[in-house]
Amino acid sequence: MSTPKIDEIGFWSEVKLEIVRDYASAYSKILSKQKSISRYLYIDAFAGAGFHVSKRSGEFVSGSPLNALNIEPRFSEYHFIDLNPARVAGLQELSDGSNDVVVHHGDCNCVLLEEIFPKCQYSDFARALCLLDPYALSVDWQVLQTAGRMKSVEIFYNFMMMDANMNVFWRSPERVSTEQRARMTAVWGDESWRDAAYKKEQKSLLDEGGFFEEKASNQRIAQAFKDRLRNVAGFRYVPDPIPMCNSSGAVVYYLFFASPNATGHDIVEQIFKKHAGRAANG
Ligand SMILES: C[S@@+](CC[C@H](N)C(=O)[O-])C[C@H]1O[C@@H](n2cnc3c(N)ncnc32)[C@H](O)[C@@H]1O
Repeated sequence: MSTPKIDEIGFWSEVKLEIVRDYASAYSKILSKQKSISRYLYIDAFAGAGFHVSKRSGEFVSGSPLNALNIEPRFSEYHFIDLNPARVAGLQELSDGSNDVVVHHGDCNCVLLEEIFPKCQYSDFARALCLLDPYALSVDWQVLQTAGRMKSVEIFYNFMMMDANMNVFWRSPERVSTEQRARMTAVWGDESWRDAAYKKEQKSLLDEGGFFEEKASNQRIAQAFKDRLRNVAGFRYVPDPIPMCNSSGAVVYYLFFASPNATGHDIVEQIFKKHAGRAANG
């Protein structure tokens, strides 16, 4: 088995890791005290290699699975998923044979729906915190909608705005390939992304029938996605997402949190507030 490739990460990824770690730590403290809960899971759907190298400092940075394993009190179960076999082997090493850790090799869109979410049913008094941290637009809407309807799962989710802007939200939408449009539809859940991403403007006051489509701002698109998480997926609490920016100030992704409970929402709002300035200066 080859050694897993270690990613070099931008500062915004370091901020994301801190946000998720801070919330996972608070979550575990709260859930561990709830006598009615039978188990609570940590799910890392795009788990990665376990370590990164910071672009800024050149130093090793613990990845999200390692951060989760170091949280006290421990979660009842950890589920790490990755598509890359070398990373899966690395994650298995990281788990050091602990019987509360399961490493899954495969596409998380299938593994979550078929193997892991069934273990987190509200009616079984189970709960879960799930991190969806892809490189690109690759989380199917069905995963978000299933999590939202379960009422037992909280998510952190990166909506990959840079990928969307580079490949789908073009100024001339008619030039976007069918394949890229289908990719956005899979992520958004239907074709209503077109209404969110483009504003219809009249060409001129004299040209009554003539409209052109102008690309909407990133912020407006993110708000539309937030509305979908609440109104279509059914998450009761979705704070405003935090834009994670690169060193040129461009939004790489919006980090969303969505939850069925008010306490989680309030804690994450505080955490987002604490980190907002740092996330804008990647
Ligand atoms: C951004 S990295 C994850 C970083 C990690 N969450 C962290 O913060 O330490 C994305 C990972 O997702 C994996 N991946 C890509 N597509 C996947 C899929 N469909 N299902 C599961 N893993 C996938 C890649 O191999 C890569 O290791």
